[in-house]
Amino acid sequence: MPIADLLTYETTTIQHVKVWFKAAPVTRFPKNGGACIKYKDKQIAVFNFTRLGTWYACQNLCPHKMEMVLSRGMIGEEFSEPKVACPLHKNTFSLKTGENLNGSLSAIATYPVKVEDGMVYIGFSE
Ligand code: FES
Repeated sequence: MPIADLLTYETTTIQHVKVWFKAAPVTRFPKNGGACIKYKDKQIAVFNFTRLGTWYACQNLCPHKMEMVLSRGMIGEEFSEPKVACPLHKNTFSLKTGENLNGSLSAIATYPVKVEDGMVYIGFSE
């Protein structure tokens, strides 16, 4: 498979979910922090935003230097927008829209998350 395919992530909206992938039990995710899960050839950063009582998922790949690091980023809020800051050079991305909030990098892909019976599921369109 070409590298470019491995690096391609597409935002999935809840309307387009075909597969709810069972990622891991809730207890595997740090409070107010993230962890990385694998789905097919993709690495997905999943965040347990305890303070807001919400979960978010996005590509683990930071589009700045193409590093698989976003799950290790700090999460927070900017003007009520939940965001993650890349641990390497602090570029920030909205966890809702994927938009780069402090620059002009490409947006990251985001994915729906649901929690059922203590398990975390991520929605994918394929
Ligand atoms: S690699 Fe993420 S900000 Fe540079």
